[in-house]
Amino acid sequence: MSVHTTAVVGAGTMGNGIAHAFALHGYDATLIDLDESLLDDARSTIEENLSRQVDNDVITTADKTAALDRLAFTPNTPEGVASADLVVEAVPEAQEVKSEVFGTLDAYAPADAILASNTSSISITWIADQTDRPDQVIGMHFFNPVPVMTLIEVVRGQRTSDATFETVAGVADDLEKNPVEVEDYPGFVSNRILMPMINEAVFCVMEGVAEPEDIDTVMELGMNHPMGPLTLADFIGLDVCLHILEVLHEELGDDKYRPCPLLRRKVTAGQLGRKTGKGFFAYD
Ligand code: 3HC
Repeated sequence: MSVHTTAVVGAGTMGNGIAHAFALHGYDATLIDLDESLLDDARSTIEENLSRQVDNDVITTADKTAALDRLAFTPNTPEGVASADLVVEAVPEAQEVKSEVFGTLDAYAPADAILASNTSSISITWIADQTDRPDQVIGMHFFNPVPVMTLIEVVRGQRTSDATFETVAGVADDLEKNPVEVEDYPGFVSNRILMPMINEAVFCVMEGVAEPEDIDTVMELGMNHPMGPLTLADFIGLDVCLHILEVLHEELGDDKYRPCPLLRRKVTAGQLGRKTGKGFFAYD
């Protein structure tokens, strides 16, 4: 099937980045969130990030204007998805929330629309089972910051059809991203490898192997990572990292994924990284 009209549910960091990418690459995109103040913030963030791309000569001013013209914002999910060919869900990582959202999408999106999830930790097969169209449900796992990062993990659930996969892989190409096909196992590929590295860096802090700045310097200069693992953990959110590690630990049943007690302690204390102004480092 061909995709022209998209909808993105959830106007947080990932949702606004995904809507930005769709609109910039010629798709009509409606961003949906029940919280209208989040929609206002998302509109300004997208405008700022498009301006950043204009300033860096990545896009022209005309591209920016055209992208903004293709965007719509609404708190009404049934209305927002009514004419969508592809819906991407980017709401918080809780099964009861996903279940409710996918029930609504299934009821109001056109019968042939593809329903994708940006989940980083919940099974696509389980999400598909919340709908009556499991063959049209798939994972599109984007990376933060979405306008810059060129990977999409395209996750096939147990019943995802080949046609759904091919359509979504084609959309990823249109977005100038690289679709990588992965099967539906906990953490997919990205977080199954990334989170144990971040967790090990937190163990290094807890055991006093080195100071947080020095742990990051080792990985930046020694391994050429653009950000050290602790800065990256703060960027992703320590609560998000902890949640993904808990899913890996529980679902794969191997103690190598056990979350470091220091990570849990920081989350309990509300030190979640950049978004709260403090994590392993302090932010203005
Ligand atoms: N929108 C548009 N442009 C942006 C942007 C945004 N949101 N954020 C950054 N940029 C642009 C900047 O303007 C800059 O452009 P230029 O090179 O043309 O001047 C370029 O990206 C680099 O940004 P900065 O100069 O601000 O800073 P850095 O060079 O340090 O790069 C970074 C920032 C791209 C975030 C880089 O540090 C990086 O790649 N870090 C690792 C990010 C990463 O690993 N993300 C994945 C997280 S895991 C995830 O998302 C999955 C989940 O399931 C956990």
